[in-house]
Amino acid sequence: MSDASVWPVFEDEETEPRPTGPVIQLRGARKTYKSGSIEFEALRGIDLSIADGEYVAVVGPSGSGKSTIMNVLGCLDTLTSGEYLLAGENVEELDEIELAAVRGRRIGFVFQQFHLLPSLSAWRNVELPLVYAGVHRDERRERAVEALTKVGLGDRIDNRPGELSGGQQQRVAVARALVGEPTMILADEPTGNLDSRSTEDVLALFDELHEAGRTIVLITHEHDVAARSRRIVQVRDGLIQSEEVLA
Ligand SMILES: Nc1ncnc2c1ncn2[C@@H]1O[C@H](COP(=O)(O)OP(=O)(O)OP(=O)(O)O)[C@@H](O)[C@H]1O
Ligand SMILES: [Mg+2]
Repeated sequence: MSDASVWPVFEDEETEPRPTGPVIQLRGARKTYKSGSIEFEALRGIDLSIADGEYVAVVGPSGSGKSTIMNVLGCLDTLTSGEYLLAGENVEELDEIELAAVRGRRIGFVFQQFHLLPSLSAWRNVELPLVYAGVHRDERRERAVEALTKVGLGDRIDNRPGELSGGQQQRVAVARALVGEPTMILADEPTGNLDSRSTEDVLALFDELHEAGRTIVLITHEHDVAARSRRIVQVRDGLIQSEEVLA
């Protein structure tokens, strides 16, 4: 599973022009949540640039705004003020349909709670992004099986999530994130529910993705996990407190 040559799916990168500037650019990003008359400022002015192909970890205490950042970066939520440029495109100007298209084309998500559909087999879960992308049935199955093989689950394609361990379920989720060949992987506590062995499996997959040129933003509580990235961004109380570039 650690041989980078087992990722042929990443070879045809040039389907759209590569961005020349940073792939992610947040400028003065603010996010205020409102529930009733109560307002909470979860992001209080974040500036963050991430270049194409970078592997960045976002760390910080519970409630510091990490998932809020991830939701904004993943076009799942929008800013209250400030700017988010994704591959040079101002996301704040896009409507829901355009946002969904950007998500589908560019972003693969991995969450702490794998978010697999329990009634579907592993390969059916993995093919879902391709269903939404309008890919033909036969090709969908082929690519889903290929992605599952790459995460070491080629022999589990017909198993449902309930028949797989937590680590295996997260690898299915990684396969699902990859199958659409996104330029960017956003992972929010992807190892939060995993034992150390499965954590290592998932981090090894991320290493390979990074080597294959994918941009990875990894949110984590755990310093050991963050240390696998190349840059650590420390968030506290909705602000970037410090950044550290790793060797
Ligand atoms: N939909 C919401 N409505 C109101 N407040 C929210 C909402 N979502 C998040 N918040 C608040 O915004 C702050 C940041 O939340 P966020 O989920 O980004 O934190 P986090 O750093 O991901 O925390 P954790 O490590 O616990 O996952 C928290 O104080 C949280 O209570
Ligand atoms: Mg969170």
